Amino acid sequence: MSYRPASLPIGVFDSGVGGLTVLRALREALPNESFLYLGDTARLPYGTKSAKTVERYASQAAQVLVDRGVKLLVLACNTVSAVAVEPLRARFRPLPVVGVVGPGAQAACDATQTGHILITATEGTIRGGAYERAIRQRRPDAVVVGQPCPLFVALAEEDWTRGEVPELAARRYLEPRLEADPQLDTVVLGCTHFPVLAGVVETVVGEGVRVVDSARTTAAAVSALLDTAGLHRDASSEPTLTLLATDDAERFARVGAVFLATSLRPEDVELVDL
Ligand code: DGL
Repeated sequence: MSYRPASLPIGVFDSGVGGLTVLRALREALPNESFLYLGDTARLPYGTKSAKTVERYASQAAQVLVDRGVKLLVLACNTVSAVAVEPLRARFRPLPVVGVVGPGAQAACDATQTGHILITATEGTIRGGAYERAIRQRRPDAVVVGQPCPLFVALAEEDWTRGEVPELAARRYLEPRLEADPQLDTVVLGCTHFPVLAGVVETVVGEGVRVVDSARTTAAAVSALLDTAGLHRDASSEPTLTLLATDDAERFARVGAVFLATSLRPEDVELVDL
């Protein structure tokens, strides 16, 4: 264990700034931990790319975090978690690698009563069927339907999360699914960007439908893993937060502030090349 002592940061990786929603939940749940976050902003979006390309990009990004020294790697990106979690585990073993799909599936199973669940995500995440498999493992009788919502990524990046336009997009994506299955009682926000649109989604789906995401359940999974491995950082010194991006620190800081729900300056973001 000496190569990944408890004092090292937790590595968090996403295709861009969206994973800061997961980082936010991790920091809330684990206030003594240091974090090293990498957003591959130069190559976002991953959600429209093939599984092979996503795996290659994710391996390169994860390598940067591993080279800097992390004790655990969180794949905050749903698309990466859906298509590349096993290859990444194999490549970086024995480093623990946590994806967000399992915890997201758990959140859905905890929330649903009818077992009828709608997954909203990128095209890449839906195409691979990873959420459906993860939910069925936990609840074999579940009825799971996937709805790609690519426009949500752009709206979230624009910080256009309230009002007519996002609501119309949400209606177009969700209403046909709600009409097709009156028993549907749970919607999973299966993309890093979607939690900032939760309000609009909740308005469209109405009160009888629960809207869940994987951020908090992922933080709980990471905490449990640190417990088991005895890897919690001691609180004797201040934890650190290091933010890395592959393009445009100014944009990362501006858009990232919305996802992390805190102010960020461009000088808080270090540019790296993959
Ligand atoms: N991070 C991606 C995800 O959670 C969304 C943005 C992208 O397509 O890269 O699926």
